[in-house]
Amino acid sequence: MANIWVKKDINLLMQEASGDEKGLKRSIGPLGLMALGIGAIIGAGLFTSTPEAVANNTGPAVTISFIIAGIACVLAGLCYAEFASMIPIAGSAYTYSYATMGEFIAWIIGWDLVLEYGVASAKVATAWSEYFNKLLHNIFGFSIPYPWCHSPFQSSPEGVSGIMNAPALCIVVLLSLVLMRGVKGSSLLNSVIVVVKVSIVLLFIGFGWSFIHPANYTPYLPPNTTHVSGEFGWTGLLAGAGVVFFAFIGFDAVSTAAQEAKNPQRDMPKGILLSLLICVVLYILFAHVLTGVANYKEFKSVGREASVTYVIDTYMKGYEWLSVLVTVAILAGFSSVILVMLMGQSRVFFSMSKDGLVPPVFSQLHPRFRTPWKSNRIFLVFVGLIAAFVPATVISEMTVIGTLFAFVLVCLGIIILRKTDPAIERPFRTPWVPVVPVLGIIVCVTMMYILGAANWLRLIIWLIIGVVIYFRYGIKNSRLQKAIRNKP
Ligand code: ALA
Repeated sequence: MANIWVKKDINLLMQEASGDEKGLKRSIGPLGLMALGIGAIIGAGLFTSTPEAVANNTGPAVTISFIIAGIACVLAGLCYAEFASMIPIAGSAYTYSYATMGEFIAWIIGWDLVLEYGVASAKVATAWSEYFNKLLHNIFGFSIPYPWCHSPFQSSPEGVSGIMNAPALCIVVLLSLVLMRGVKGSSLLNSVIVVVKVSIVLLFIGFGWSFIHPANYTPYLPPNTTHVSGEFGWTGLLAGAGVVFFAFIGFDAVSTAAQEAKNPQRDMPKGILLSLLICVVLYILFAHVLTGVANYKEFKSVGREASVTYVIDTYMKGYEWLSVLVTVAILAGFSSVILVMLMGQSRVFFSMSKDGLVPPVFSQLHPRFRTPWKSNRIFLVFVGLIAAFVPATVISEMTVIGTLFAFVLVCLGIIILRKTDPAIERPFRTPWVPVVPVLGIIVCVTMMYILGAANWLRLIIWLIIGVVIYFRYGIKNSRLQKAIRNKP
C-alpha cells in the first residue's frame, strides 16, 4: 500500500532545481518580480468587485473590507515569503506542501491552484470582453452583438440569449501565444502594462479627490434593514471582504516564478510583500475616492456597469479624456492579470508533471523558447472554453474560496516545518510564528465561512474530482512513489 503522506526532501528539491541545467531560464530580477505581483493583483477585482461590494454589502465602508481582506493576504503573504525564500523553485504552494505535508496534500493544493489561476483568468477574460465592447462603442460607435460576447447561460433584459463570449476567448488565445514565446518577452510586456495601470489608478485618485462630497460618506456603513446576513451592517463588512478579496488574488503568483528569478532567496519575499503592500494602499485610496465622488446607492443602479467610467463621466466634469484612458488601462490591466495567472498555472503543472503526478506533456519545454508550451496550449483550451461559455459570476466566488483554502494550507505548512525541520536555512523568516500563521488561518477560514454553503459544495466537488484523479493516475506514476517501490 503506497504511503500518500510521503514527503519530498527539501534538499533534493533544491538539488533538482539547481542541477536542472535544461530547465527554465533565470531571467527575472527584483523589479520584474514586483511587476509580476502587481500585474497579477490589480485587475477585474478592483474595477468590478469594488463597486459590487459597495452596492450590496458595505457602502463607503468597503475600505474596511479592503483592510480585512488585505490583512488576510499580508498574513498569508508573510508565510508565502518564508517558503519562497526557502524553497525557491517553481510550483508555489504546491511545492511547499509537498515538502511539508506530504504528497496527498500537495496534490490537493496543486489541484486547488488550477482552480485559482485557471478559473480566475477566465473570469478576468470575461471582464476584459465587457470593457473591450465598451471601448469599441465609445470610440467607433459599434459593439459586438450580444450573443457573441456573452455565454449561453446569460440573456439580455430584452431576452436575447448569449452564444459564446468571443472576445474573452480571443484574449486568452492571444496571451497564451505570448507565453509560449517565453517569459522574458512577456515579463517585459507585463512591466509596461503594470506602469500604465498603476498610473491610471493614481490619476483617478489624484483628480477624483477634489470631487469628493463628504455627504456621500454618511452613512459610512449603511445599516442592515433586510435581516439578510451580508447585506450591509457588520456582517456586510465581512461579506464585502469576501467579494473584494478577488482583487488581491495573484500575489502568490510571484512564487510560481521562483525558478525563473535571478536571485530567488533575496528577491522573492521582497516581490511578494512589496507588491501586496502597494496594492493595499492603492485599493483603499481608490475605494475612498470612488465612494466619495458618487453615492454608494448609484452602484446598484445607473453606475452598476463600468462604474469607474460612470463616476468620471457623471461627476468629474472636464475629465472625460480620463474615462477613455481608464478604459484602455483597464483593458491592459486585465491582460496582464490573465498573463500572470496563465503563467502561474502552467508553472504549477510543470512541477506536478516533473513529479509524475500529471502526464509528462505538461513539463515538455519548447526546444527554442524553453517554455512549457504544450502545457500552455492545453490550458489555452481549458481556460478558453470556460471564458467563452461560463458566466463570470458563477466562477468568481469559486476562485475566492479555492484561494483562501490554499492560503490556509500555506500558513499551516509554516508552523509544521518550523517544528519538523528547524535547521533549514531561511533567508526570510515569517515574524512571530505561530501567531502570524494562526491569525492568517483564522481570518481566511472566517472569510471562507461567510462565503456560504453553495461555495463550500463547489469546492468539495472540485476536490473530489482531484482525489479521483490522484488515486487513478498520480499515485501510480509519482516519481517519489516509484523510487520507494524500487528500493531494494
Ligand atoms: N486580483 C486579480 C484581479 O483583480 C485576480 O483581477
